[in-house]
Amino acid sequence: MTNPPPNHHADFEHLIDREHTDCVKYDARAARFGRADVIPLWVADMDFAAPNCVRHALAARVAHPIYGYSIYPEAFFSAIIDWQLARHGWQVSREAIVPLPGIVPALNLLIRALTQPGDGVLVQTPVYPPIHQLPLNHACVLLENALIQTPKGAVIDWPDFEEKIAQARVFVLCSPHNPVGRVWQRDELSRMADLCARHNVIILVDEVHADLVFTPHRHTPFASVMAAKNTRCITLNAPSKTFNIAGLNTAYALVEHPALRDQLTHALQAAGLTSGHCFGITALIAAYQQGALWLDQLRVVLQYNRDFVVDYINQNDFGIRVVRPEASFLLWLDCRALMAKKNLPHDDALADFFIQQAGLGLNPGLSFGAPGTGFMRLNIGCPLSVLKTALTQLNQAINADS
Ligand SMILES: Cc1ncc(COP(=O)(O)O)c(C=O)c1O
Repeated sequence: MTNPPPNHHADFEHLIDREHTDCVKYDARAARFGRADVIPLWVADMDFAAPNCVRHALAARVAHPIYGYSIYPEAFFSAIIDWQLARHGWQVSREAIVPLPGIVPALNLLIRALTQPGDGVLVQTPVYPPIHQLPLNHACVLLENALIQTPKGAVIDWPDFEEKIAQARVFVLCSPHNPVGRVWQRDELSRMADLCARHNVIILVDEVHADLVFTPHRHTPFASVMAAKNTRCITLNAPSKTFNIAGLNTAYALVEHPALRDQLTHALQAAGLTSGHCFGITALIAAYQQGALWLDQLRVVLQYNRDFVVDYINQNDFGIRVVRPEASFLLWLDCRALMAKKNLPHDDALADFFIQQAGLGLNPGLSFGAPGTGFMRLNIGCPLSVLKTALTQLNQAINADS
């Protein structure tokens, strides 16, 4: 293999035509929104090309014409260990790593393996819909610790957390949090870890947005705050959000606790999910070994997009309020005043307004749980020009006579 081209010419400006590539974000618009022409600002992938190092490694792998079953080579494990240490200061052991076909499948397998029907599963709402759905999928009791929305960002309702954690068997923590964009601080994580240890609750931590944290914030791996606390914890992560390679279905768990790791490994075997994706493995290794520079550029672009959209929305009299997220490419729009202003009586009418009046495809807040009522989630992982057009359309829709 020749040396990959450098990443420092990455193009985050020009829109790549993704139509007719069978991608969810574009090609599912008619089915999802009833219109194929909305600007797609919904499902959480980005409209940016994956880093050159990844594309080059994949091209080399594709050039070999046999795509049979893959092993997970040692480079897969060492790439993860080196990445976690370099980016997050977290020393992970080789034995702790369990390859996965995805985070959502693993969360479902784990809830099935670790609970009995009727057990309590605690989540912090609003939350990524497949996490919110977990208790329902496995006949467990949904325990919701609704986050408190403040003008500075969402905070944890601690008395409520203490009450709910006492009833839980498993706590699913999203860190950083999708959709509210919080990067949990060490003291918050530590307090959650203490309470879980006290009540013997197992914690599943989804850290898939951890690489996309904006300065001055810093991601703290949950497992690193609870090392001495005798807490049972499984961390889930992937290069999928970071490098825009979600379609390659490759993720991993980090589990230092041997018995919990055995339960996960057994659950994967029992579901027939131990085989790796030959392109996903190649992509993970290339991304983690060579993608750091590209990622640092991406974070600058996302931070610029975030500030542009947040400032534009908050400075206009839209009836929409949005808190600057501390991580990732998802904005959580509080549209409750807009609903009053435009006489939109319920969430369906709000979603319909975005689709029909503004020509925009966003995620409706209610799919993230009851506290999402009156909110919409907007994806800023695309060229700024797309966001400018979207904001112009939104402005026109809001200011049109209705
Ligand atoms: C918090 C969170 N977890 C998991 C995923 C998806 O994980 P996977 O594609 O590995 O199942 C997403 C995608 O949006 C996410 O936001």
